[in-house]
Parts: sequence; structure tokens; C-alpha cells
Amino acid sequence: MAIEFIPKKKFELIDKAIVSCMAPSNIALVKYWGKKSTQIPSNPSISFTLNNCKTTTTITFQKKNSKGFSFKVFLDGILKNSFNLKIENFFKRIACYCPYLELYDMEINTNNTFPHSSGIASSASGFSALALCIVQFELLLYESISSNYINRKASFLARLGSGSACRSIDGGLVVWGQHKDIKQSSDLLGIKFPSDVHPVFNDYQDTILLVDKTEKQVSSSIGHNLMHNHPFASQRFNQANKHLSQLIPVIKSGDLFEFIKIVESEALTLHAMMMCSDPYFILMKPNTISIINEIWDFRDSTQIPVCFTLDAGANVHVLYPKSNASEVNKFIDNNLAKYCQDGQFINDHVGNGARRI
Ligand code: PMV
Repeated sequence: MAIEFIPKKKFELIDKAIVSCMAPSNIALVKYWGKKSTQIPSNPSISFTLNNCKTTTTITFQKKNSKGFSFKVFLDGILKNSFNLKIENFFKRIACYCPYLELYDMEINTNNTFPHSSGIASSASGFSALALCIVQFELLLYESISSNYINRKASFLARLGSGSACRSIDGGLVVWGQHKDIKQSSDLLGIKFPSDVHPVFNDYQDTILLVDKTEKQVSSSIGHNLMHNHPFASQRFNQANKHLSQLIPVIKSGDLFEFIKIVESEALTLHAMMMCSDPYFILMKPNTISIINEIWDFRDSTQIPVCFTLDAGANVHVLYPKSNASEVNKFIDNNLAKYCQDGQFINDHVGNGARRI
């Protein structure tokens, strides 16, 4: 139990409030894959917070007389009963940290900038937007909550909805999970990477190539669970810790060829873990591999520091410095767009994190 996030004072109920927040998606450089009880990661991870792929959520809180969770969820204005179970479970998990929620009817209206069927998971941006709305509402009930507390609690709550969501509250580079070289790091929430960051990473570009827009066959939660009893689990968790140690000086120096080695190794290890789980599975598609080979050829022939990373799916995130954007965008148009479903991709870049709107 994280005592820090249990409200201590008595709160003043208000009759009605409307709170809107926006939260972006994030892309991990060192991957979270495997967890212990209640969303405690088996290894630390670090991600870029994105800018354009985001969720906007508005909650209308209306005081009621009975106790118990009461809510309706709308996606793009359409009632989505299919989300109820996930959200009810989330509310139950956070109930002791947000005792006021059971005293309100909540109408939750949400929409994403990226299409629902794009293969881009909306859970990170979705749960972080929802969590920030809740903490912003808490701010109306209790006086003197600091902005540091708002972000920490929002990240803490978001983690209880979907692990990687806790990395979508702060902007830039965010670390989640305890790491020996990052003192403030925590298994309970994401923190802004606390050491020096080379300016090249402040506006790093991420073009998301939509290779397969259908829902993936194996969910992240099944994949995380398969890391229990996985033959290479402990080696993998050690490697992630080592990769994060190696990234700290690279993030400071801006050594992009070292950056690429770590980031691509992380992406391929994530998928290698899937391929030797029991049962084993493959989420990459033939076009994922074709894109990787094209990126390697392009990098070899031009020395432009472009690389790829993957999340738990077939889509490819192409990462590159802003100063190389015009050459890389031409390369994407000419060589990579043909591997995307309906030729679709999304241009994104590092952003500033979630906020109230
Ligand atoms: O937060 P989840 O349970 O959807 O898991 C995310 C897992 C990866 O995207 C594959 C890696 C990561 O660190 O984001």
C-alpha cells in the first residue's frame, strides 16, 4: 500500500464538476516485459513520451446519494459497454487512494487522435488521461495539493490501469522501475529521467509505420505472464538493467550509434522473448522484417542515424533526429510506405506529457 497517495484530510464534496485532460502515448527504448503482483515491473524501463498520438478524456462528476462505482464510458460519443469491466477493475484497484470516486456518477467521454484500429495501443494514453482527470478532480476536493504530487499520483494511478501508462504523464524521457543508477526511480510510478539529456533527444522523431492495423492475437497481459517460468527471464531482466545503465551516458553525450545499438537490441529481444515463451508466438509480420532490413541498408549506405523499435505488435517505430527529418521522410515515402497497410503511417515526435485542458 502506498500511504503517500491515500488522502489524509477530510474532503469537501462538491455537487458537480467537469474535468478534461489530454495524455499522449509513449514508446519504450528499454522495454517492460514481465511483471510481479499488481503491475510491479520485473525490470526498469525508459521511454520517449510522444506528442501527436494522444487521448483526450472528459469526466463529468455528479454527486449521488448511494455508495458504489457508477459510470458510463463513451468513445467518440458512442456508449462503450465493452470497456466497463476494465474500467470497473481499475476503479476497484484505486478505490483506497481515491475514496471520493464512489460518491459520484461519472460520465467518461474519451477520444484518440489515432484510429481505434491502428494497432497502436490506446491503453497507455487512455489510462494516463483518465488517471490525470481523477487527480485533477481530487484537487477540487482537497486544498494545497502540489503539482509534483499531482503528477506522481496520476502516474501511480495510471500504472494500476496499464503498466506502461505511468510513463505517459511526464514529458521527454521517463523512467519506470527501480534502477541502481537512478536514485529517485520507483516501481510504483514513472519519473522524468533525472540526469543530463543531450538536446538531440528533446525533439527526436518517431514515425509509426502501420504494418498491421488489426488487433494483435496475443495481448500484452498474456505476454507479461509468460515471463513467469520463462527459461531466459532472469537473463532478460539483467540485460534490461544493463541496457539502462549503458543508456545514461549515451543520453548525455548524444552518441547516436551507441543509442541505436541498445534500442534495436531491446526491440529484438522483446520479440525473441515472445518467440521462446511457452506457448511461443510471433507478433512481427513479414513486412516488419522487410522494413528492418530496409532501415539497416539505408543506415549503412547513408550513415544517417535512423533506427527502429517495436512494441508488442507488428508496427515499426522509426526513430531519428529532427535534423535528418527531410532525408528520412523521403526514405519512408519511397521505400517503407509500401509495407504499411493502406500505405499508412503516423509522424510523431517527443512531447511534453499529459495536462489538464
Ligand atoms: O503496459 P502494457 O501492459 O501494455 O505493456 C507494454 C509492453 C511493451 O509495450 C511491449 C513495452 C513497454 O515498455 O511499453
